[in-house]
Amino acid sequence: MHFHKKPSWDKFKDSDVTPEEVFNDRRRILKQMGFLGAGALLSSNANAGIFDLFGNKKEKQTFLRSDLPHTQNTEYDSVLNGALTPESKIITHNNFYEFGTGKSDPAENAQGFKVDPWKLVIDGLVDNPLTLDYDDLMKLFALEERTHLLRCVEAWSMVVPWVGFPLASLLKKAGVKSHATHVAFETLFDPEQMPGQKSRLMGGGIHYPYVEGLTINEAMNPLSFMAVGLYGKTLPPQNGAPIRLVVPWKYGFKSIKSIVRIRVMDKQPPTSWNQLASREYGFYANVNPNVDHPRWSQATERRIGEGGLFSAKRINTQMFNGYGEQVADLYSGLDLTRHF
Ligand code: MTE
Repeated sequence: MHFHKKPSWDKFKDSDVTPEEVFNDRRRILKQMGFLGAGALLSSNANAGIFDLFGNKKEKQTFLRSDLPHTQNTEYDSVLNGALTPESKIITHNNFYEFGTGKSDPAENAQGFKVDPWKLVIDGLVDNPLTLDYDDLMKLFALEERTHLLRCVEAWSMVVPWVGFPLASLLKKAGVKSHATHVAFETLFDPEQMPGQKSRLMGGGIHYPYVEGLTINEAMNPLSFMAVGLYGKTLPPQNGAPIRLVVPWKYGFKSIKSIVRIRVMDKQPPTSWNQLASREYGFYANVNPNVDHPRWSQATERRIGEGGLFSAKRINTQMFNGYGEQVADLYSGLDLTRHF
């Protein structure tokens, strides 16, 4: 599971190539047949990495991603309003300011990023502080595939088949103390590997390391997910390898990448975008079509991979990104206009 110089598509023959539609269709058929949940059956999905071939920047992709054994969790699929975003788009249209602020910068600049060895520390208000290495991240918990909507605060969105495990499983293993109220997350700080951390211009003015946070109830919600893969294989560095958070009812900036520390606390932790521009980015950052960003509307979004870059086709943004049934209770009595 290391990065190698040899491009990952080298090992595939033309005859192996299966378009994304086949992946979508295979998933639909298996679902209809009641096979979802049988991880072994879906191992062929792991070959979804061949979709790398469709990437228009394939010459830049020098990492090797490994297949991840997983089961299917389709519990949240009813929320999905569109086809899976092609893998080639998910891994070339990124926000990861540690590698530059342009959408193609992370895929271009992160290829040499070392993810193994890795160390993730879970500490703070827990009974059993944990230190997990790369293999622990991949093997300690049963991995499942979940497809979630990712809605960026910049009003674009994707439909991503993540592979990982619930954040709650990790927190339960560490044993959260009863007076804990929040969980803080921290990305690796390594300016030698992450050029955006060396230069204020390249790093978008963020004060590194990138930090994020959730309330303890948000963190324990079954929707909060630790992703170690996408499209059946380990994450590429530009998507937050080896492990990132996925909080599908919140704007994408909450879904912090390449995490090295998770700290359970009894107060609200600082968060990077809120520190940078508190009037524009709140702590909660729930997807909300009724509360506009001060500089643009949040009522609609552009689905990446559908229509051209300048296509006028937009879709309506859903409250809590469509996940209201699972999370609206967390905010009862809270004024979401003030607590945006
Ligand atoms: N995590 C770190 N460490 N640095 C970042 O710049 N960008 C965030 C989030 N996590 C970011 C990050 C933003 S703004 C978004 S929209 C998502 O990652 C994008 O995830 P993706 O590139 O996998 O689509």
